[in-house]
Amino acid sequence: MARLTLIVKTDPFNPDESVISKAVEILRNGGLVAFPTETVYGLGASISRKDAIKKIFSVKGRPMDNPLIVHVDSIDMFLNLTLNPPEYLINALEKLWPGPFTIVYWKSSSVPGEASANLPKAAYRSPAHRVALKLINYLGEAIVAPSANKSGKPSPTTAQHVYSDLGGSIDMIIDAGETLYGIESTIIDFTSVPPRLLRPGALAVEKISEILGIEIEIPLEARGFGEFGEALAPGMKYKHYAPEAELVVVESGDYSDLNKLINMVKKLISDARSKYRSVAVICSSETCSSYLDTNIKIIEIGSRKDIFQIAKNIFKTLRRLDEEKIEFAIVEGFEEKGLGLAVMNRLRKASGGRIVHID
Ligand code: TXA
Ligand code: MG
Repeated sequence: MARLTLIVKTDPFNPDESVISKAVEILRNGGLVAFPTETVYGLGASISRKDAIKKIFSVKGRPMDNPLIVHVDSIDMFLNLTLNPPEYLINALEKLWPGPFTIVYWKSSSVPGEASANLPKAAYRSPAHRVALKLINYLGEAIVAPSANKSGKPSPTTAQHVYSDLGGSIDMIIDAGETLYGIESTIIDFTSVPPRLLRPGALAVEKISEILGIEIEIPLEARGFGEFGEALAPGMKYKHYAPEAELVVVESGDYSDLNKLINMVKKLISDARSKYRSVAVICSSETCSSYLDTNIKIIEIGSRKDIFQIAKNIFKTLRRLDEEKIEFAIVEGFEEKGLGLAVMNRLRKASGGRIVHID
């Protein structure tokens, strides 16, 4: 049903009381509010409004078996929504919350099945963003939220992205500018021993391991290959992060020698030019100039020396392919280290598994 979407700007560091109060009123009445976090924009519903939680799935076109994240403002709020978390997990949260770190743990009956896709576990995170924290705090209870994009599309890093996907079908968008990380949180399942990475994200898994002094299992699925059987943090069962264009990722076993990578990208460009009207390459600042002679759209994503910036640019770059009506695009791969793991997970999934690997 079409309705008016209220869009209100606010300062990310000092959110207006009136904006937060309006959003809280909407959430209490069972409405949906898109809000900024430090990772991407989320689409929130009050945890006590099952009707609103169900609406999240319908406006996003999200499969009902893909559970949402429960956003809390404190460890205390989390403790009321979970079942006997061990001491070491609470210590981990004390170190890493608020932040882009999501844990999966056994849920209490206070988390409705609508939010957790009827699984006995739920995902929890405390976002490091003043707007998000203040919103949860004023509401006085958790906000259930996935990313605020249409299902299958790249996650939104600006209020404009949210509006372009969901404008007219949600009640309010709080616009606090571009998000800091531009890539979603890292999700770790703490019901497994050792804890298992479900989705690499804005906080590098090596860093989490180091800070917590624990080993974390990194299954192939978390790298963006294949599908988790059970709960669906990343997989290929559904389209993920996908632009309209057909996207191919060119990966290398050794990114210290970029010549082979460039040659393969150029070969793919020349094959594609006879087949598609609009072709683009997404490349690094180290390599983009090598494609100048190909006469296709060149989109620079950042320097290989600054993987934070590449991660931050990834979703807006994928959205740009649609804005520029690109039919076929080639994207260079990046080393799978630190945030590079999250970058490669998103690229592999955005490509729907179209990967060319050179050694
Ligand atoms: O940074 C983020 O995580 C953003 C902001 C808004 O917080 N949220 C986000 O949510 O990216 P989204 O759209 O990725 O959806 C939640 C993810 C899904 O991939 C889902 O499979 C996983 O969390 N998830 C939720 N509950 C789970 C559970 N019980 N077991 C396994 N995975 C779960
Ligand atoms: Mg999402």
